Amino acid sequence: MAEDRGQFSSKLGFILAAAGSAVGLGNLVAFPVMASKNGGAAFLIIYLFCIAFVCYPVMMAEIAMGRRSQRNPVGAFTEISGGMKRWRLVGMLGILTPFMIAVFYTVITVWLVVYLKEISTGGLGMLAEDSAFGEIVARPSLFYYLALLLVVVFIILLGGVKGGIERLAKILMPTLAVMLLLLTVFVLTLDGASAGISYYLVPDFSKVTLTVVNGAVSHAFFSLSLGMGILITYGSYFSKEDSIPQSTRMVAMADTSIAFFAGLLILPAIFAFDPNTNTDDLSTSSVGLIFSFLPKIFLSMQAAVGYTGASVAALAFFTLVFFAALTSLVSIVEIPISCWIDEWKFSRRKAVLFQAVLLAVFAIPATMSLGISDFFTNFTFYGGVSKSFFDLVSDVFYSTILPLVGFTVCIFSAYQWKVSGLSAELSIGDDNFEGSRLQKYMNFSLGTVIPAVLLIVFISTVYQIYL
Ligand code: PHE
Repeated sequence: MAEDRGQFSSKLGFILAAAGSAVGLGNLVAFPVMASKNGGAAFLIIYLFCIAFVCYPVMMAEIAMGRRSQRNPVGAFTEISGGMKRWRLVGMLGILTPFMIAVFYTVITVWLVVYLKEISTGGLGMLAEDSAFGEIVARPSLFYYLALLLVVVFIILLGGVKGGIERLAKILMPTLAVMLLLLTVFVLTLDGASAGISYYLVPDFSKVTLTVVNGAVSHAFFSLSLGMGILITYGSYFSKEDSIPQSTRMVAMADTSIAFFAGLLILPAIFAFDPNTNTDDLSTSSVGLIFSFLPKIFLSMQAAVGYTGASVAALAFFTLVFFAALTSLVSIVEIPISCWIDEWKFSRRKAVLFQAVLLAVFAIPATMSLGISDFFTNFTFYGGVSKSFFDLVSDVFYSTILPLVGFTVCIFSAYQWKVSGLSAELSIGDDNFEGSRLQKYMNFSLGTVIPAVLLIVFISTVYQIYL
């Protein structure tokens, strides 16, 4: 139903919505820790290099595929290839991946809601206890918050592209940026903050190994919401009047700046509030860091600002993280919805309801995976450890598949659609693209260096996780 396909109202609407998707837990927590552990500014340089030379072209290719086909990922691969079955299958992977990522991202967002509730009712002290996280994720009351979150997410998505996704991003993204800035300024004025700044930024090239480079590529990829079908779908809502290369650049810059500022907030905060921080405790897992480590850090503020002051600061920070997670969650749930609308001709209302049921069906076992149900908690075994249903979904779809989907996007754009087709789409709404250095780089790299890098990342991740 053509009238059900929305469009962003402006370039800014697209940029904010795509940035809303891109800015998530990866930026606010994983990036600062990764950077500080892997050589500080040295890592930053490598990361910027990955964004500019690996991710930026893939981002443009995804958005161009969406705008050209006016479809979701399955439709985009099918339409542009002229209906070839094998590309349709690849497109299905581009729906399954976001569908499954949404499942475990929902669970993490539910935990954030519970933390917000606990902090606002005086529970920061409890959250700072060692056993708190393990206890919270095993609470049967999680289902209540799950239901609440799903209602909110699906009401937003019922509002469609302009009235739902874009409106949410227009409110939350500027709020998030201002909150981040204020919190950062506050933290930087504290005694002891400078230890964190140097821990974060002093370059140490000796720490840069191949594994670090591998990690930088895959994190950059994940952080920009690549390989999740999101940019293909958002590209289908992007106006033909506007420039894809320019808007993409803005999204990549916004995402990277927020990650950078998050580093200037988190690490100085850790060192200022608790000068005895053992840097080995800074795990690279964003989940562990947010839910187990940070409440302790906030609680240690109470000596200076009292329990209420510490709780207010924690509440501000967790609200920030929640906003970032909510905009990412909404973006990812939209992908299967767009598929049901395009491929099965569902109305948006019907597609949203259908997806709500599907997501609930999978999110319930994922919620039960951390203690509520023994069956889902010890669901399977690989890589030498017992894994829950939640772990399985996150390992397969979050950690492993993304670079593979990115690889297929490159191969598809370079050899099936052909660089000439892609170039023609990227020239629409952009008078400067044709003949530019960027075009030459795209034409050269999209079928060669970039897919090779992504394939290496994919293989080494498989090796690390499963073997
Ligand atoms: N890009 C997000 C981040 O940096 C990841 C994400 C986006 C996850 C959308 C799920 C859905 O955290």
